[in-house]
Amino acid sequence: MSGTRCSTEQILDDFLFHTPTLERVVPPVSLHLCIPFPFATFLLIRRQTLTTKPASTASDFVRTLSTAVAVAETYDDPDGVSMKGVKISGRPLYLDMQATSSVDPRVVDAMLPYYLTRYGNPHSRTHMYGWESDSAVETARAQVADLIGASPKEIVFTSGATECNNISIKGVMHFYKDKKRHVITTQTEHKCVLDSCRHLQQEGYNVTYLPVKTDGLIDLDELRSSIRPDTGLVSVMAVNNEIGVIQLMEEIGEICKEFKIPFHTDAAQVLGKIPIDVDKWNVSLMSLSGHKVYGPKGIGALYMRRRPRIRVEPQMNGGGQERGIQSGTVPTPLVVGFGAACEIAKKEMEYDEKRVRALQNRMLKGIRKNLDMVVVNGSEERHYPGNLNRSAHKIVPNNSGTWCFVGMIAATVDVTFSDKITCCYCAIYMGIFGNAFVVGGDTIGIGTMGNSDETKLMIFW
Ligand SMILES: Cc1ncc(COP(=O)(O)O)c(C=O)c1O
Repeated sequence: MSGTRCSTEQILDDFLFHTPTLERVVPPVSLHLCIPFPFATFLLIRRQTLTTKPASTASDFVRTLSTAVAVAETYDDPDGVSMKGVKISGRPLYLDMQATSSVDPRVVDAMLPYYLTRYGNPHSRTHMYGWESDSAVETARAQVADLIGASPKEIVFTSGATECNNISIKGVMHFYKDKKRHVITTQTEHKCVLDSCRHLQQEGYNVTYLPVKTDGLIDLDELRSSIRPDTGLVSVMAVNNEIGVIQLMEEIGEICKEFKIPFHTDAAQVLGKIPIDVDKWNVSLMSLSGHKVYGPKGIGALYMRRRPRIRVEPQMNGGGQERGIQSGTVPTPLVVGFGAACEIAKKEMEYDEKRVRALQNRMLKGIRKNLDMVVVNGSEERHYPGNLNRSAHKIVPNNSGTWCFVGMIAATVDVTFSDKITCCYCAIYMGIFGNAFVVGGDTIGIGTMGNSDETKLMIFW
């Protein structure tokens, strides 16, 4: 087998970013086998040790502890991982950051007290346990609001962006059902938006699914001409989860303002990644998720504009918490974690963006060095760098005589990235697959909590 031997030193030499957010781990890597392009690359990676700074204070100690626990789980895995009949040593690389991110250890540290000692119900009004939980929830509400330029009063905690999207789309249309019967959205929305719209169609509402151009952006003139007197909502996602393009939010907001139509955006993929200003974008509703921004899973927030006030019909009935829009006990630890993640994102967004962009550029350069037919899908100018979706515009025969995709189909047990490898629906809508030579597209999700080794290992062929 002719393969390139890659040394640990080679991998680690020139691309170790220092990250200010954590005393972060530098995992030495031993790369056992690396077969060059065009065959699938098998990266058997074993990460052996970790380095953290010594703890000096009690909170440093907790942080070191939670970091160490996470790292031990991730890296120190002498027996390897066995799953679905496949055994590998170490754990796979993770490059699927748009599906979910790891939780920042500082977020875990913020959450822990609310599991262990401060576990009161935030809706208990008669004792200290309730008051301290309530106060923590309100602090988190302010932290989330601060990241998007909103007032804390405009934030409703939910279980995640899926719930926010359901409340926004069905809730608005049900509230205005006597006057407004038409929704405008795009063909490339997340499934929870598309399914909410389909549900409305089954109830007799009309939905226009705007196509996107080959750059993944909607045509503003087409949006304008789709507006009808009974249009009750425009819903356009801010950053696409597969292609990573950033829609023209301010321009879309302007059109909605001109026609006095509420504008909802699914901002799950954009929170903490680029600056958001709800007023600049003129959004009435915005869906946010905790686990895309290094916060916990199971928590999200819905921004609901107060002036002019947007009204929705609740999708769930119960105790009337969260202004009656999301009944049920607010999960204090999750909310605290989401708030902490937002606060960290606000402080570190600029640095993180630079770091993720550098990782993306490095990865793209490395890929293109070996595969000149690889193109990035979607607008390169209006594109979040942590989401790298590419296609290969050529297929080549492999040595067994069958055709093979020459893109980044690394051994998926060893490298984890989006599973929409052969045919992502956004790419279809963008017309990318109209070209007979295009055989595949996949998405790599790079995050700031990942490390440069992941990028490096992906581009070794
Ligand atoms: C664009 C977008 N919207 C909504 C969701 C759903 O988010 P959650 O898991 O918080 O419900 C996701 C996550 O996959 C997403 O990427």
